Amino acid sequence: MEKSLWRRHILPFSVLLGLLAAAALAGDYVLHRFNLVWVGRYLGIPGTLLIVLSLVYSLRKRKVISRGNPKYLLTLHEFASWLGSLMVLIHAGVHFNAILPWLATIAMGVNVVSGMVGKLLLDRSRRHLQEQREHFQLRGVSRPEVEQALFWDAVTIDAMSRWRKVHIPIFIVFAVLSLGHIISIFLFWGWI
Ligand code: HEM
Repeated sequence: MEKSLWRRHILPFSVLLGLLAAAALAGDYVLHRFNLVWVGRYLGIPGTLLIVLSLVYSLRKRKVISRGNPKYLLTLHEFASWLGSLMVLIHAGVHFNAILPWLATIAMGVNVVSGMVGKLLLDRSRRHLQEQREHFQLRGVSRPEVEQALFWDAVTIDAMSRWRKVHIPIFIVFAVLSLGHIISIFLFWGWI
């Protein structure tokens, strides 16, 4: 059972997350290869703007705004936050001078992963577990035996549900840390 939960749900999740890491490394490599590291410095701006744009979905969901198709806005949320995070990761690059922006980047990473757990793993895995339960019950397997067989799947899903709860609090941490970084850079640049 664990194998198929892994193959059908955890694998696609890992692929999308791996793609994010691979694209970030490739982007960083290309910028260094073509002496365009300065472009990466500015990629923080469109990346941040995309993440801010992705929040339209959250405003719609909480009825702060009443226009817009929620389903379409959710797709926008997922796409814009993924792409925005990619840009910010390339922006962060492999430079280590300051702590604050790295804390912001770690918070962003937790944020992206928790969002993807919610989207790609949780609902589908719950359904998967339910199907397995029904399947066993139809075959006349006793309840304790069913629970025994599905124990690790249930534990995995329970752990994932906790991830989902992390999504909003960690977003607030991410937003505050990013704002600190952005304000200090803007002060340094004399933009504010
Ligand atoms: C308006 C948006 C942003 C601007 C204008 C901006 C600007 C900058 C600049 C100029 C640097 C270079 C600082 C240095 O060389 O010491 C930098 C570094 C960095 N930024 Fe941003 N940034 C923005 C958004 C973000 C966001 C949202 C994150 C993370 C969530 C982030 C993470 C980082 C990291 C990790 C570094 C590398 C720090 C280091 O060298 O140790 N940035 N940013």
